[in-house]
Amino acid sequence: MARICLIGGSGFLGRNIAELLVRDQRVVVVPTRRRERAKRNLILLPTIDLIEANIHDDAALDRALQGCEVVINLVGVLHSPSAQPYGPAFARAHVELPDRIVRACERRGVRRLIHLSALGAAPDAPSEYLRSKAAGETAVLAAAGKLNVTIFRPSVVFGMDDQFLNLFATMQRLLPVAVLASGSAKFQPVFVEDVARAVVAGIDNKESFGKRYDLAGSKVYTLRELVLYAGAMAKCPRPIIEVGQGLGMLQALVMELGIVKFVLGRQLMSRDNLRSMRIDNVSGAPFPFGIAPTPLESVAPTYLTGVFARSRYSTYRYRAGRSPGFMQR
Ligand SMILES: NC(=O)c1ccc[n+]([C@@H]2O[C@H](COP(=O)([O-])OP(=O)(O)OC[C@H]3O[C@@H](n4cnc5c(N)ncnc54)[C@H](OP(=O)(O)O)[C@@H]3O)[C@@H](O)[C@H]2O)c1
Repeated sequence: MARICLIGGSGFLGRNIAELLVRDQRVVVVPTRRRERAKRNLILLPTIDLIEANIHDDAALDRALQGCEVVINLVGVLHSPSAQPYGPAFARAHVELPDRIVRACERRGVRRLIHLSALGAAPDAPSEYLRSKAAGETAVLAAAGKLNVTIFRPSVVFGMDDQFLNLFATMQRLLPVAVLASGSAKFQPVFVEDVARAVVAGIDNKESFGKRYDLAGSKVYTLRELVLYAGAMAKCPRPIIEVGQGLGMLQALVMELGIVKFVLGRQLMSRDNLRSMRIDNVSGAPFPFGIAPTPLESVAPTYLTGVFARSRYSTYRYRAGRSPGFMQR
C-alpha cells in the first residue's frame, strides 16, 4: 500500500481527499499542529496515521515523510499581516513551506508531489494571497526536473463545512441586511468532492506531471448572486446593500481588528480578500481527468438549510441522474 503524506490534511479539502485515499486502501500520514482537534475531523477513517508535528521544522517534516511515496500539500492561510509583495504569514505558508517540502522530498527520495494553489494566482495579482500562491507555484515547478509535480488551482470551494456559502448564510441569519462590496465580482465555485477526486486521480496520472490544472465549477456567478442564493436557501433572505470600494475597505478593516476577531471567533474577511476580487475568479479550462463538475444547486441546498445528515443525498441523486430542482435561471 502506497503511503501518502497529506500535509494540511486535517482541513476542509484534506478530510475529503483523505476519505477517498482511505477508500483506495492507501495509508495516509497527516501531520497536524493539534492532534486532538484534527482527530475529530478524521476520526472515522481507518488507515490514517495522525501525527502531531511542526511542519515548519525540517527534522519534523523529514519524519512525517518517512516511508512515503507521495506528498500532497494542502496548507493555506487566508489572512496575514500586510507587506509587499505579500505578508509574512502568506510567505511562510505559501512560499517557504512548499520550497521546504520540495527539499524534504528530495532528501527523503519522494518522487511525487501534488500542490494545492488557487485560481487567479499570479505574480501581478491584486492581492497578497494570490501573489504568494504564485510564488509557491514557482517554487514547486522549479523542482519539476527532479520531482513529478502537479499543481491544482481551485476556484472557491463549496461543500458541507465550507467557509464560503455557509458564511453568507450565517451572516444573513445574524444580521438584518447584507452589506456587500464587489458584488459584481465573478466566481466559478467548485464542489469539494470534485476537487478531491481530481487530486486523487492525478496521483498516478503521468500525463499530469509538470502541469497545472484550474479546477472550476460548471457555472459562473456574481458574488451578489451567491449571497442571495445562500440567504434564500438558509431561509433568511436579506436585502443586499451594495457599497463602494471605500466603504468595503472600511468594513474589512473593522473585521481585521483584534476585538472583532475575538467576538466573531475568527477573522471573517480582510482588505486583501477584497483586493483579490478585483479580478474574476473564473477559468475557461475544462475540468481534468474526465470529471464533470457537480452543479452547486445539486449540493448546497441541503447543507444550507441545515439538514446536515441528508446533505450528501442530493449529490448522490445528481450523480444517479435524478437531479433535485437545480436553480432555474
Ligand atoms: N477552500 C477553498 O475555497 C480553497 C480555494 C482555493 C484554494 N484553496 C487552497 O486549498 C488548500 C486547502 O484548503 P482548505 O480549505 O482545505 O484549507 P483549511 O481547511 O484551512 O486547511 C488547511 C490545513 O493546513 C494546516 N495549516 C493551516 N495553516 C498552517 C500553518 N500556518 N502552518 C502549518 N499548517 C497549517 C491546518 O492543519 P492543522 O491545524 O491540523 O495543523 C489546516 O487544517 C489551501 O492551500 C488553500 O489555499 C482552498
